[in-house]
Amino acid sequence: MENTIINSMKKRRTIYNLGKELPVMKSTLEDAVRGVIKYAPSAFNSQTSRAVILYDENHHWLWDLILSKLVAMIEDPEQKKQTEEKIAGFKAASGTILFFEEMTTIRSLQEQMPLYSENFALWSHHGTGMAQFSVWTVLAELGVGASLQHYGNLIEEEVHAHFDLPSSWSLIAQMPFGSIEKDPGDKDFLPSEERVRVIA
Ligand SMILES: Cc1cc2nc3c(=O)[nH]c(=O)nc-3n(C[C@H](O)[C@H](O)[C@H](O)COP(=O)(O)O)c2cc1C
Repeated sequence: MENTIINSMKKRRTIYNLGKELPVMKSTLEDAVRGVIKYAPSAFNSQTSRAVILYDENHHWLWDLILSKLVAMIEDPEQKKQTEEKIAGFKAASGTILFFEEMTTIRSLQEQMPLYSENFALWSHHGTGMAQFSVWTVLAELGVGASLQHYGNLIEEEVHAHFDLPSSWSLIAQMPFGSIEKDPGDKDFLPSEERVRVIA
């Protein structure tokens, strides 16, 4: 039987060759992100996921910042060139979605329920993963390509200051998105029997 959700999941891939021509209106994309952030589940319905959508010069500022941080750490000219090319690929996209977790709520839950204290940090990461995956899948359904990147530790302070974001928002992931300029190759799958057992 055709399953529309699984079909959408199949469409979601890591797209590194992204361009600036979005196949949908920006407002459609923004509504989709709002919908996902609203309806993605969270531990104890804590609703700690946050998203910031950057376009144009804000998106460019982000990738220039990441590049500056990375090249400052790299000595080897060849590796530097590869990094410049990689980051230029992300900058060539239409925009970037930043994913955060709101830590004041998480800390307050940890205080309220000390028994689960350690788990709240884990569940926060589960929750953001669900939100990220859902945004990525919804974008794919709209024909928008994306990839998932993790440079938060290098840029968090500057991102907070530049976009005037609450310091309680912890930066988890960056998702460059845009037109799909090159389809990804095939990917390998382990046999389902190895990964899913039915015990009846
Ligand atoms: C939790 C998680 C972290 C990931 N981190 C990165 C990353 O930092 N950089 C990157 O290019 N891809 C990242 N990816 C993308 C994976 O490499 C990719 O999803 C995987 O190879 C399968 O390919 P597909 O997305 O085309 O299905 C991440 C994916 C997941 C689920």
